[in-house]
Amino acid sequence: MADLPETPAFGAAFSDEEEAARALEAGRWLFSQTCSFVMGCVSLDTLPDHDLSEIAFAGRSNVGKSSLVNALTGRKTLARTSNTPGRTQELNYFRLGPEAQDPALMMVDLPGYGFAEAPKDAVKRWTRLIMAYLRGRPALRRVCLLIDSRHGIKENDRDVMRMLDEAAVSYQIILTKADKLKPAEIADVLARVVAETAKHVAAHPDVIVTSSQSGAGIDLLRAQLAALASP
Ligand code: GTP
Ligand code: MG
Repeated sequence: MADLPETPAFGAAFSDEEEAARALEAGRWLFSQTCSFVMGCVSLDTLPDHDLSEIAFAGRSNVGKSSLVNALTGRKTLARTSNTPGRTQELNYFRLGPEAQDPALMMVDLPGYGFAEAPKDAVKRWTRLIMAYLRGRPALRRVCLLIDSRHGIKENDRDVMRMLDEAAVSYQIILTKADKLKPAEIADVLARVVAETAKHVAAHPDVIVTSSQSGAGIDLLRAQLAALASP
């Protein structure tokens, strides 16, 4: 892929180059640690008890949530991905980081919302579950809300953004599949998404452009997520 336009994230996220270098190194370190599947949950009362920060990956079906979890952790098959929308059907928990006192994170790969190739009842059930989880999970430190670069923010994404604003749950927009667009097209969608995001109170101001395929933006996202790790 050609060079990405300078994403505002680099400018806004870190105060100077030294801080950026430290954050990138912390991200590289954390995401090179062990990462293991903990459990898949189909109801709120089976969510695991833990004392780590939880980061959730949310977005429309097929936007690239599971692929992003794999790209972040550098593992191809940790989370199962598919061409068919509706692949992930449970809240899948992954624990990143050593068991001891060092920084660690709990990552949650969610099922998608919107169209999915699955029975209507199942889609309804997991959509209700995702929304209840996003609204009411105290351990949730940030929602990475994934938006396909080719499509931009859709109406059902806006519904989720409004819900997160109302519930005061911090979220960050991550543009995915940037390898499918030309640099000028990426600059265009990024400008539109940044402008819209600025109107949402719970949205993080940095929008990160990523490609799980080329690896673009992955180091920056690692750096930002590592800053949320516990302790
Ligand atoms: P559901 O679990 O069904 O909601 O989907 P998901 O959001 O987890 O998407 P998934 O990671 O399964 O990816 C969906 C499809 O998009 C797969 O065919 C991936 O290979 C493809 N994909 C994901 N990320 C990228 C990317 O950065 N670039 C390209 N070109 N394809 C991608
Ligand atoms: Mg998935």
